[in-house]
Amino acid sequence: MGSGGRAQPCLFLAVLAVSLSLGGCKRANMYSQAKSDNWDRSNFFPNGQTMRLPVAGTVPRAEPNVPVAQPAVITAEMVERGHQRYNIFCTPCHGRAGDGQGIIVQRGFPQPPDFASDQMRRISAQTIYDTITYGRGAMYSHADRVAPADRWAIASYIRALQLSRGVAVASLAPAERAKLDNAPVEPPEANSVVQPDAPIGATTATAPGTNRNSLPPATMSGGGQ
Ligand code: HEC
Repeated sequence: MGSGGRAQPCLFLAVLAVSLSLGGCKRANMYSQAKSDNWDRSNFFPNGQTMRLPVAGTVPRAEPNVPVAQPAVITAEMVERGHQRYNIFCTPCHGRAGDGQGIIVQRGFPQPPDFASDQMRRISAQTIYDTITYGRGAMYSHADRVAPADRWAIASYIRALQLSRGVAVASLAPAERAKLDNAPVEPPEANSVVQPDAPIGATTATAPGTNRNSLPPATMSGGGQ
């Protein structure tokens, strides 16, 4: 018993030694080669850095939910950015008018509430932000595809949608009325040509004021949250 008990650790060590030496050979082949380490100077990239920066707008997969404080004011750029992101990510269910009649809903998906309803007009921008982050009911989280700052932009655009839905055309100022009358009527799915990673202003189908669901940005900037 005593001698057998000693033999096993020896055998184990022998196997370990052999496997380490084999592993060492592999490592020598693949690991020990001419290459740059993270912080090495690079002669290849113009800025001299080996490490690359993430592409602008990258959403970190590890922690996409680091909260961004609510911007103090809504700018026209923010609304337009939100318009673009909303059209990409929210219209399939919520519809471009925010009435909950998106294309998926028309084919049987549970219908979201109408953003123009009294209840939805009362929810805070924070609730919209949180719903995008965590999802709600049948709506899945959009945290992995809508960056935190864009969640506020979308919330501001939903406010614009809500405002536009309550406005009587007859109450518009003449200049705004003229813009509305001259705006081209979009075909139903025109917004789907927007590329998900297109920069602000790169929308091909929708320029500010051409969508009857949105008020021109100029009238948005004074809006609350
Ligand atoms: C796959 C369909 C789908 C998509 C895409 C979707 N939603 Fe929803 N959303 C729903 C449904 C369904 C509900 C109702 C959930 C419930 O109350 O059970 C809902 C509810 C909501 C609510 C109401 C939350 C509340 O407090 O009652 C908000 C706000 C909202 N969605 C915002 C968004 C935004 C912004 C986007 C785009 C970033 C989006 N949704 C994308 C289906 C969707």
